[in-house]
Amino acid sequence: MEIKTYDGSMGEWQGDAALLLLREEDCGALPDLPYAETVRQLAERQDFKGRKGSSLRVPVFEGGVKNLYLVGLGKAEACSAASVRDTLAWGLRMAGRQHNGSVLVPMAHLKDVFQARAVSDSISGGGPSASAVLGEAAGLCGYVFDKYKEKKEGEYTPFALKEVFAPGLMPEEARRGQTFAAAQVAARALANEPGCAISPAGLAEHAGAMANELGLTCEVWDEEQLKQERMGALLAVGSGSANPPRLIHLTYKPRGTARKKIVLVGKGITFDSGGLDIKPSNFMTTMKGDKSGACAVMGVLRGAAELGLDAEVHGLLAAAENMPSGSSYRPDDIVRARNGKTIEIENTDAEGRLVLADALCLASELKPDAIIDLATLTGACAVALGKWRAGLFSRDDALADALLAASRRRGEAFWRMPAEDEHIEETLKSPFADMVNSGPRYGGAIFAAIFLSRFVEKDIPWAHLDIAGVDFMDKEWGVYSKGASGFGVRTCLDYLAQ
Ligand code: BES
Ligand code: MN
Ligand code: ZN
Repeated sequence: MEIKTYDGSMGEWQGDAALLLLREEDCGALPDLPYAETVRQLAERQDFKGRKGSSLRVPVFEGGVKNLYLVGLGKAEACSAASVRDTLAWGLRMAGRQHNGSVLVPMAHLKDVFQARAVSDSISGGGPSASAVLGEAAGLCGYVFDKYKEKKEGEYTPFALKEVFAPGLMPEEARRGQTFAAAQVAARALANEPGCAISPAGLAEHAGAMANELGLTCEVWDEEQLKQERMGALLAVGSGSANPPRLIHLTYKPRGTARKKIVLVGKGITFDSGGLDIKPSNFMTTMKGDKSGACAVMGVLRGAAELGLDAEVHGLLAAAENMPSGSSYRPDDIVRARNGKTIEIENTDAEGRLVLADALCLASELKPDAIIDLATLTGACAVALGKWRAGLFSRDDALADALLAASRRRGEAFWRMPAEDEHIEETLKSPFADMVNSGPRYGGAIFAAIFLSRFVEKDIPWAHLDIAGVDFMDKEWGVYSKGASGFGVRTCLDYLAQ
């Protein structure tokens, strides 16, 4: 997708379509827009009021442009950079599916929308410009997971949109937005692959290929090395599968001296059947998405390299397949993590925290300025926050605030959750080992976060992002397509870029 500026007058626009985002307030007295009179008359006739989620296609028969799309942003007071991004993506997607190869987006009006929201958006400070948001929306709107489908119809209709033109565009900003989007799309594409297509070793191959492409380093530990390196928890989780586990270490180093060193840790369960504590079938579908954390980390590294960030960024992917078999790890087993601590297995379906435990030990040994892990860790987090908001757990206020600000700038919703609780801490006790891996049902997401904290060096700022639920969209909406969402990529990338 190309995004270009357009210098001509709106009336002279010769491309396929124009896309106008309108607030309810804009529909009474239209601002300075192209085709203002046509727009006004049609909006009136078709009763288009700018309501959120409403749209109107106006076929144009004279002049160059074939279609004019009006899409509603809703009430001005409810508009935000996030709703503009989602609405843009939705509108561009609609235009692209309806055979429009080039679309004009009048920026002057968009900038008005942004201006009106300047006050509330400035809480996060330095929010993305309208150009960057357009870049993100354009880069995200066209992706669908269709590579295994022969019949391309409905949401899989071939996507015609190739060029977006925007008068007054800041090209550098738009390109930056596109880079954020491309990082997220890469994460989606990988996470959407089923378990039969991507094993832990397959994930390592993808990481290696990406490293070659972008000049990163990639080190992969196989089972032998995992044994030597005392990664007992990761090995236990992977032991039931015919596809053995891997620890993948990607490193991005900036050209000059690095300002900071950050380690990202990703849960890479290529399929989570639950293991011997097997999941009921209705909970097992979508569990190919249990590698979403690792895929997001790969996306962030791609973005970091493409943006040429000035921080050193490490990605540790803890990859395993959680399967039941004669060689599986069992309930009652006691496994030893890399830092020597022993864990009594109460439930083999609480496998994510185990693979992360070893990876977090490794992350701490790198002595970074901060550690951030991304994991589809607990159903409890999805129960608490819904499928559209992820959990952020951290004992470090500065890191938590920085991540929350980044998430607001990029329109990915996070909610800060407790990362300490003396009562839940109690429930980690095991009679026979240093801790158990799963606790009582209530507070399950907090239990998991506290469990993870035991493998992070005390003085290193650390945040845990529980993306269970948000990793997988049941239907397309806003910037999201059906399936893997790539949630967290833009937030982490924005945090690193600050
Ligand atoms: N991968 C799941 C969590 C999950 C649930 C991700 C729903 C995405 C959507 C995780 O490994 C898991 O099974 N967690 C258990 C933990 C329990 C056994 C303590 C859960 O949440 O039920
Ligand atoms: Mn599980
Ligand atoms: Zn899992």
